[in-house]
Amino acid sequence: MVDQRSAVAVIFILLLLFESTFEQLETLSSPNERAALLELRSSLGLRSTDWPIKSDPCLVWNGIRCANGSVVGINISGFRRTRLGKLNPQFAVDSLVNLTHLASFNASRFFLPGSIPDWLGQRMLTLQVLDLRSCSISGAIPPSLGNLTNLISLYLSDNGISGTIPSSLGLLPLLSVLDLSKNSLTGSIPSSFESLKNLSRLDISSNYLSGSIPPGIGTLSKLQYLNVSNNSFASTIPSQLGDLDSLVELDLSSNSLSGSVPPDLRGLRNLQKMLIGNNFLDGNLPVNLFPAPSQLQIIVLRHNNFTGPLPDVLWRMPQLSLLDISVNNFSGLLPDSSSNANVTAAELNISLNLFYGNLTPSLRRFSSIHLSGNYFEGKVPDYVPSNASLDGNCLQDLADQRTVVDCSSFYAARGLNFDNFGRPNSTQPRAPETSGKKNKRTIILAAVLGGVGLILLLALLALLVLCARKRGGTTNQRGVGVGPVPAGSTPPPPGVSINLSKLGDSFTYQQLLIATGDFSDANLIKNGHSGDLFRGILEGGIPVVIKRIDLQSIKKESYLLELDFFSKFGHSRLVPLLGHCLENENVKFLVYKYMPNGDLSSSLYRKSNTEDDLQSLDWITRLKIALGAAEGLSYLHHECTPPLVHRDVQASSILLDDKFEVRLGSLSEVCAQEGDIHQSRISRLLRLPQSSEQATSGALTATCAYDVYCFGKVLLELVTGKLGISASSEAEMKEYMEQTLPYISIYDKELVTKIVDPSLIVDEDLLEEVWAMAIVARSCLNPKLSRRPLMRYILKALENPLKVVREENTGSARLRATSSRGSWNAALFGSWRQSSSDVAAIPAASATKVEGASSFKQSGTTGSHSQGSGPNGGGDNSSSRRRYSKDIFPEPSDVQDVERQDQD
Ligand SMILES: *[C@@H]1O[C@H](CO)[C@@H](O)[C@H](O)[C@H]1NC(C)=O
Ligand SMILES: *[C@@H]1O[C@H](CO)[C@@H](O)[C@H](O)[C@H]1NC(C)=O
Ligand SMILES: *[C@@H]1O[C@H](CO)[C@@H](O)[C@H](O)[C@H]1NC(C)=O
Ligand SMILES: *[C@@H]1O[C@H](CO)[C@@H](O)[C@H](O)[C@H]1NC(C)=O
Ligand SMILES: *[C@@H]1O[C@H](CO)[C@@H](O)[C@H](O)[C@H]1NC(C)=O
Ligand SMILES: *[C@@H]1O[C@H](CO)[C@@H](O)[C@H](O)[C@H]1NC(C)=O
Ligand SMILES: *[C@@H]1O[C@H](CO)[C@@H](O)[C@H](O)[C@H]1NC(C)=O
Ligand SMILES: *[C@@H]1O[C@H](CO)[C@@H](O)[C@H](O)[C@H]1NC(C)=O
Repeated sequence: MVDQRSAVAVIFILLLLFESTFEQLETLSSPNERAALLELRSSLGLRSTDWPIKSDPCLVWNGIRCANGSVVGINISGFRRTRLGKLNPQFAVDSLVNLTHLASFNASRFFLPGSIPDWLGQRMLTLQVLDLRSCSISGAIPPSLGNLTNLISLYLSDNGISGTIPSSLGLLPLLSVLDLSKNSLTGSIPSSFESLKNLSRLDISSNYLSGSIPPGIGTLSKLQYLNVSNNSFASTIPSQLGDLDSLVELDLSSNSLSGSVPPDLRGLRNLQKMLIGNNFLDGNLPVNLFPAPSQLQIIVLRHNNFTGPLPDVLWRMPQLSLLDISVNNFSGLLPDSSSNANVTAAELNISLNLFYGNLTPSLRRFSSIHLSGNYFEGKVPDYVPSNASLDGNCLQDLADQRTVVDCSSFYAARGLNFDNFGRPNSTQPRAPETSGKKNKRTIILAAVLGGVGLILLLALLALLVLCARKRGGTTNQRGVGVGPVPAGSTPPPPGVSINLSKLGDSFTYQQLLIATGDFSDANLIKNGHSGDLFRGILEGGIPVVIKRIDLQSIKKESYLLELDFFSKFGHSRLVPLLGHCLENENVKFLVYKYMPNGDLSSSLYRKSNTEDDLQSLDWITRLKIALGAAEGLSYLHHECTPPLVHRDVQASSILLDDKFEVRLGSLSEVCAQEGDIHQSRISRLLRLPQSSEQATSGALTATCAYDVYCFGKVLLELVTGKLGISASSEAEMKEYMEQTLPYISIYDKELVTKIVDPSLIVDEDLLEEVWAMAIVARSCLNPKLSRRPLMRYILKALENPLKVVREENTGSARLRATSSRGSWNAALFGSWRQSSSDVAAIPAASATKVEGASSFKQSGTTGSHSQGSGPNGGGDNSSSRRRYSKDIFPEPSDVQDVERQDQD
């Protein structure tokens, strides 16, 4: 009996073992599924190191999970595509429909450009987990996803998804995780969300959502994590949120919420993080908002309009690691009781409030303390760490405190006595003395600056007179002086005025602080040479880029030039200036429209997958960008009078909106082209130090030809996909051009394939366009500035790239170049061909043979003349073109050998 039983047990155990071994060694039994996987493998371009074609997917392929002989899980997260797969990456997952048991599809960090297919929601009904984070998905969320009733986790964050959140998502009864953060979603939270009874995590942060937060969210009793930050939610915080007693983290920050904090939030007994900063909340905090045994670790209430005292309990929370209530109107004394907590790594920020009285031992436990901008008085106790920020208070024996008048009137208004910085009333108060000194210093500084400023002003005056468009005698009533003289102290000299009404809205410093979260590092885009750029969200949820120009480190002239430029010129190809904030004397702010696609240097490739697996812009988009930039430059060069030079043409100056339309940025160095003598003197006065580029290219930066040269580098960057060419130093550039330019020949299309960006798909038609752009690039990079083409011809060439290469090959170019009705195309390439054939005949003499280009000096003069001679220069005037054709248009002087070989 016993033996029998143990035998049964042994058999049972063996069976179990067999079962589990069997599961481990499970093979794919369905030929249909195998075919589907192979199809998926090829449509996504997966590598054989991940999915080796001959072996069994269940046994060998990475990221495939099988059960009962069927595929139940696919994880291609972070996979790299094959070289071929990279050529035409698409959201091509059609064959998934034949994996009839698939429960989980994880393609996070795998590049899937395109929108989520509608059939996914209709056909993939077995899905439980769908993870498409960071896949570069665009388009809207298909409402059909509401049919995936088995879905437990849906991750779509960090894509370019737009449109509204479909209310059908509320139909997913099992949904536990919904992450739609970091997209471009608009509209409001569907009220259907209150049906998501199993939801534990809801993240819709960093979108453009608006409306109010639906009270129904409060019924989601399993919710542990709720993040709606960085949207435009308005109205009040619904008191029903207090019913979320599983909630661990609540993030409502950076919205437009207003009203007071509902006392019901004390129901959040498990809350560890409460983030409600950067809103418009006001009123007092409810006294018992924070229940006594609290889990709270992080409380951020910063940048609201809270008033009244801070509940004492906040100072005693055992777990607290960050309490940030800065920039509010909280008031009152610090609690007297010494908290017996030991010093922790906790941080306290109560700066820019209305706290007063003495510093107390309640501060003891914090290792990082920010108290500046309050009305604290008395001595600083020893336990306050030396790196604490204390300025702007009424503290004794400390620099950078408020004045006696300020302090005593604050205290008097509350019926209190100010300790007068610890000095008896009779002696001379110290503060006015220092402020007197300060005043004197300001006066001296103003005088010195004024002197420098006067010179600048004179220079500017002259420039403005020359630069100014016909004004038709209108005067600027709203003009305000922006010279180096402190605003308001001296009326601006007549004539030097910048019309602020043309510079968008006037913002207050406070508005910009709120918009950028105090210019926090998290919002810093980059430290540009003309100022620091920050991302920000204005009231109403408008995303912007704000340039902070600290005049102590940035040359004032570049800021003035930029203001001047924007007040006079505007074009759809230039980045829109939305407003400014000039109220601060030393720090100025310009507010630009936010460009969702950043600049060309950052979006030519987007890091989407693993480190070295980058997605790149397709050719159509690249051509569109080249065209857009050419339009912008063509406006500056040919439509402004006098012609304006951008002087900072490089990939990072080419900003891209949501549709990859170009908006030229970096406009702080725009200046009038050096043409006649008066102008050049002034521009020389204002010009920044010349870069080494000019030396080699033989050009001053203040000529249109310099822009053309730089634009050539940008084109080369677009063609070759080599990042950073347009920003490279002249030495690097020279070396690079030596390697690259020999492969650009108007006689051999195939040569160019050697330098084309390998991540571009190049079919025959496209290759011709690529080839054409390469040819234009090379024309622009002609070392002799006089032979670089005019921007308007470059524009024409880029508008008709196929014409560039096809007409050239018909052999009629030469004829056209010399005919009086010659086209831009013939103009651009006729001379190249002509001179190339000349060169082919007499190689050695080529350089000097070309008339008008025998010396740099001479070519420089003719160059700037033809570049800057307005609508007629180099235009249809055939005699002048004949005369200058060889000077103005490109000729491959440095790489003729290759071309000659090609001709042979
Ligand atoms: C495998 O098949 C058995 C019997 O048909 C079923 O009970 C089990 O749930 C299946 N396993 C999976 C993971 O589908
Ligand atoms: C998914 O695949 C990646 C890459 O092979 C691997 O690093 C990761 O651990 C997998 N994730 C899961 C949840 O299996
Ligand atoms: C699914 O399988 C069927 C039958 O093998 C096949 O005809 C069909 O093309 C497959 N569908 C896709 C999208 O691969
Ligand atoms: C998908 O794979 C990534 C990489 O391994 C992993 O971090 C992530 O948690 C997975 N997603 C899901 C829903 O399991
Ligand atoms: C899927 O959802 C869409 C929209 O919610 C609906 O119109 C459609 O009938 C559903 N399809 C199926 C197969 O349930
Ligand atoms: C803050 O509240 C005060 C009154 O308490 C009000 O005067 C002020 O306008 C409010 N500020 C903002 C920015 O809402
Ligand atoms: C402070 O630290 C000491 C020694 O590490 C410990 O004995 C004491 O309990 C701590 N006090 C508190 C309130 O945590
Ligand atoms: C100092 O003078 C102010 C008014 O000038 C008065 O309100 C305050 O009480 C005096 N303080 C002391 C310590 O005498």
